Amino acid sequence: MQIGIIGSGAMGSGIAQVAATAGHQVILLDSRPEALDQAGIQLLKIMDRLVEKGRLSKEDAEVIISKHVYTTEMNTFRDCGLVIEAIVEDLDVKKSVFRQLEGIVPKEAILATNTSSLSIASIAGSCLHPERVIGLHFFNPAPLMKLVEIIPALQTDSSLPPRLHELMINWGKYPVLAKDTPGFIVNRIARPFYSESIRLLEEGLGTENEIDAALKEVGGFRMGPFELMDFIGHDVNYAVTESVWTACYHEPRYQPSFTQRRLVDAGWLGKKTGRGFYNYKDANSSNSEFSSLDSEKQRRLAERVIVMLINEAADALYYKVASRDDIDQAMTLGVNYPKGLLRWADEWGIATCESRMDRLYNNYHDPRYRCSPMLRSLAQNGERFYPEENI
Ligand SMILES: NC(=O)c1ccc[n+]([C@@H]2O[C@H](COP(=O)([O-])OP(=O)(O)OC[C@H]3O[C@@H](n4cnc5c(N)ncnc54)[C@H](O)[C@@H]3O)[C@@H](O)[C@H]2O)c1
Repeated sequence: MQIGIIGSGAMGSGIAQVAATAGHQVILLDSRPEALDQAGIQLLKIMDRLVEKGRLSKEDAEVIISKHVYTTEMNTFRDCGLVIEAIVEDLDVKKSVFRQLEGIVPKEAILATNTSSLSIASIAGSCLHPERVIGLHFFNPAPLMKLVEIIPALQTDSSLPPRLHELMINWGKYPVLAKDTPGFIVNRIARPFYSESIRLLEEGLGTENEIDAALKEVGGFRMGPFELMDFIGHDVNYAVTESVWTACYHEPRYQPSFTQRRLVDAGWLGKKTGRGFYNYKDANSSNSEFSSLDSEKQRRLAERVIVMLINEAADALYYKVASRDDIDQAMTLGVNYPKGLLRWADEWGIATCESRMDRLYNNYHDPRYRCSPMLRSLAQNGERFYPEENI
């Protein structure tokens, strides 16, 4: 099957590499010829590196390169069986691209969007045949990250998710099924990692360094929240938070913070601008500073962020955003969490999670700390997320 990809930026070029490696002929389209040139140069570099490291033979690299076709003309998509759109995150632009696409591709072609935050139903709604539109959300960098969220819209034909599930497995990916809700699985459940850590900072309960150290040392996360936000970029991270918050009708749990907003205002976007929560221009003020917190305080900081993540994951299960296993796999494969959050809840004990949430709520009387009905009902019935496993 020929695969069409629209947008040859970070995501589109990565997805193209994945599809070509799986043996497909890939047509990569961009409205800017220079973006296509860049994607071509980048692919050659990546292939050279993989060959150097012995991960790929020279012949296989040449085959992968030869499977890429670069174009600015959408007419070249006329034989594609699947088109994946990865252009700018703008609903109106995406809608107009999908409408144009519909007039070109074969009538049985699947039209997928890699959007991180827009409603799949609204993109599908702009098409004459919305039943063939679906979300297919890869993670950055696409060739390395195993997770793909498959997101059928209300209108999507029910045969599409299982077909894409099988295709993604053939591409070496781990597909999970998500409901068409703001942030899908990963971008919704991960919100407290950032927002609760910022709250801790705002309340003066720890510095960036201390909170980062707590989550790495006690929680086992690869990067601390402040390091990670600096790495992602505050413009991107703030925009996702605001988009999930707005799309969820101002749900207090997802409320963005002034602290991050001011970083964006100041142009302190993180690593890419040399300054974010940390200063990357001045080696002395780097985030490698020693954290002086005692272990009891570290534990309290980490536990508050982790219980908020667990509560978010439990709520996503309660509202059927995804299955138990898909929620846990999504967080370990999409954002490298050290373990699944629902499994973590079982390890802590559901009653412990419930009482930690209630303690936060009683302290603040802020609805962001309300305990998920899922945790409460499991606690009341003495049940667990993984009853089949012995802990
Ligand atoms: N970057 C990430 O971490 C990430 C992760 C998952 C999903 N996404 C989503 O993937 C999509 C692309 O993100 P990205 O980071 O690759 O963006 P990017 O800015 O790196 O690339 C977008 C490309 O699309 C091209 N483009 C814009 N409008 C176009 C049009 N009308 N027709 C053809 N080409 C057009 C641009 O020239 C650019 O080369 C977005 O929807 C984003 O939300 C991004």
